[in-house]
Amino acid sequence: MKVKYIMNGGIKEFDIQPGEVLLDVLRRNGYTEIKGNCYMGTCGACAVLINGTPKTTCTTLAAQVDGAEITTIKGIGTITNPSPIQKAFVEKGAVQCGFCTPGTIITAYALLRKNPNPTEEDIKKAIDGNLCRCTGYVQQIEAIKSAAELLKGGENNE
Ligand code: FES
Ligand code: FES
Repeated sequence: MKVKYIMNGGIKEFDIQPGEVLLDVLRRNGYTEIKGNCYMGTCGACAVLINGTPKTTCTTLAAQVDGAEITTIKGIGTITNPSPIQKAFVEKGAVQCGFCTPGTIITAYALLRKNPNPTEEDIKKAIDGNLCRCTGYVQQIEAIKSAAELLKGGENNE
């Protein structure tokens, strides 16, 4: 069967198999910025925004979200024009091996859209489903606080 998604702002059509999860469909079609690891919904590496909410693509059936708006880390900024959250992750050393980074950044991006003044507890709660084996989370939390300051200073959350 075929499904359509609004992928990072553009309409795309995909062939899918019955029972296939969104992670596999998107990676097969070149969206390799989405990482797959546990395939159980526990590591958060495969998170994207589905209609504005962070969701794990390994636990989402591709057919279930036909017509949805899907945003990956590539949809919120580019190397030459990074979003404040992407910039802050680099500046604060929150990107080490990088495997968890797309899922964590997309989750933090959604948090800051909803709550521009998160407390440290809010941040910890928001990213508690995004496992990182490298940073110990300290740099990530600092980066999210820093992005919140950049946004308050007038930078756009795009
Ligand atoms: S691969 Fe989806 S949550 Fe781990
Ligand atoms: S930076 Fe390596 S898992 Fe997070």
